[in-house]
Amino acid sequence: MPNSDSILLKADELGRIEIVERDGVRVIRRDIRAARWWARAFARRAAAREARALAKLAGIDGVPSLVGWDGRELLRGYIAGLPMQQAQPRDRAYYRQALRLLAQLHRRGIVHNDLAKEPNWLVRDDGRPALVDFQIAWTRGRRGRLFRLLAREDLRHLLKHKRTYCDHALSTRQRAMLQSPAPHSRLWRATGKRLYKLIARRVFGYWDNEGKGRVRD
Ligand SMILES: Nc1ncnc2c1ncn2[C@@H]1O[C@H](COP(=O)(O)OP(=O)(O)O)[C@@H](O)[C@H]1O
Ligand SMILES: [Mg+2]
Repeated sequence: MPNSDSILLKADELGRIEIVERDGVRVIRRDIRAARWWARAFARRAAAREARALAKLAGIDGVPSLVGWDGRELLRGYIAGLPMQQAQPRDRAYYRQALRLLAQLHRRGIVHNDLAKEPNWLVRDDGRPALVDFQIAWTRGRRGRLFRLLAREDLRHLLKHKRTYCDHALSTRQRAMLQSPAPHSRLWRATGKRLYKLIARRVFGYWDNEGKGRVRD
């Protein structure tokens, strides 16, 4: 597949996501140059954040490898599979492995922060989970109260998807956790990232035009 033969996955104000081939290997390209001028600074910061997160997560199975980031295009390793809303994972093993994957992220000081969205969860061809889209991840590694709060939200979002597709496998503890969301006021005070998301959704309207995946929050 020559570079001109890219496959477009998504295009919005923040740029384009395509599958391209580099040196004979399939990669996912996020092209910031395709962002609208007024969104470009935001898009670049988000891509830089994603690159930082991927670098810290290097070697974890289920996270794309960071192939390159030059301030204009971000290249991530391609992961063969389908987004959650298409694959609809009903196997409890998927959720067990997803829990383990989240624990690995959190151990490295990364919180994903955007896991309510099904398109950010992949079901690989062999049925195992993978995570993409670390644009609004927490990457600075400090693990205080806020880190724990956000990490718990990551987990709660996974449990919501489990409730949708594999409800009978929820444990009592998991059901209890689903019923106790972090108070929004605390999250709002704690981080501007929620604000980003709200603006993104309300004003730009772009935030989830990918494949009609549901957002649970
Ligand atoms: N490494 C990857 N391997 C396979 N598919 C991917 C990969 N990265 C992204 N995708 C697909 O492209 C979609 C958009 O990518 P994503 O990083 O979520 O962009 P955005 O930040 O615009 O939502 C994802 O929902 C997923 O379906
Ligand atoms: Mg996404």
